[in-house]
Amino acid sequence: RLDSKENTMGKKIILDCDPGHDDAVAILLALGNPAIDLLGVTTVGGNQSLDKVTYNARAVLEKAHATDVPVHMGCGRPLIREPEAAATIHGQSGLDGVELPVPSRPLDEGHAVNWIIDTIMSNPPQTITLVPTGPLTNIALAARLEPRIVDRVKEVVLMGGGYHVGNWSAVAEFNVKVDPEAAHIVFNESWPLTMVGLDLTHQALCTPAVQRRMEDVGTDLATFVSGLMDFFRASYRENQDFVDPPVHDPCTVAYLIDPTVITTRRCPVDVEIHGDLTLGMTVADFRGAEPSPEECHTQVAVHLDVEKFWDLVIDAIKALG
Ligand code: BDR
Ligand code: CA
Repeated sequence: RLDSKENTMGKKIILDCDPGHDDAVAILLALGNPAIDLLGVTTVGGNQSLDKVTYNARAVLEKAHATDVPVHMGCGRPLIREPEAAATIHGQSGLDGVELPVPSRPLDEGHAVNWIIDTIMSNPPQTITLVPTGPLTNIALAARLEPRIVDRVKEVVLMGGGYHVGNWSAVAEFNVKVDPEAAHIVFNESWPLTMVGLDLTHQALCTPAVQRRMEDVGTDLATFVSGLMDFFRASYRENQDFVDPPVHDPCTVAYLIDPTVITTRRCPVDVEIHGDLTLGMTVADFRGAEPSPEECHTQVAVHLDVEKFWDLVIDAIKALG
């Protein structure tokens, strides 16, 4: 599994993120597994300001010696609403708890939305997978600016939402709640879309036993990830009543590496953009009537093979050296 990329044709992905402790792990998993070809990282304001999360993305790539991966900066604020950072979870920097290396590669030129469109349009159809792990502002704008990308994208596998649970309100998850109009656009386009929501990601808990396995890898990078997890655990204990932190974002990448890691269920999903109490809720309809599960372009992640998931994450940290 850890063979060099030369022997395998990795799945081409664009990771659109707002690092973020768990976004950082998603980046590392994408870099450290030969089944994935990370074409580029695009950033969106979310967990922290756009400048901060963009710096963090570059710093994480630097830490993994992946300075050949382009980073394009995207939207700094939601389509309609005011920005809302998650400092209670990710700290003032967006990646509190560790020392970040100074990026050696300059930030790439060109807005993320344009770069996403150009990349999709210049690659063969059905070859690019979009992996959003932050608010959906960039992806929504890309779909509006160049609607032909919708048929051209292979699939969208996003972290966001939840069909039974919320974390930024009783019923809404952070990435969707921050820019619900963008999420509404993305969920209602016809591309195949997998919602890896909180119902799934709350199974991806970084327990002390998991963290010990990370530390046992013994590299500087392993220490870095463990430091991220220490901060993440403290945040989740203080603010979300969790004992161990759910490491949401890499679940998307794990699913693309090995679809057997996640069980899914096909059903229509829509995003509430009017409700007072329910703004940003992802409403999944499990009744199985119209459209039939076969005709439905959306599916939700239901069950995580926890052991396989952490094996992938730890193998990736090892592979990155
Ligand atoms: C999502 O919100 C962010 O804080 C995390 O990075 C993750 O993408 C979880 O609700
Ligand atoms: Ca995120």
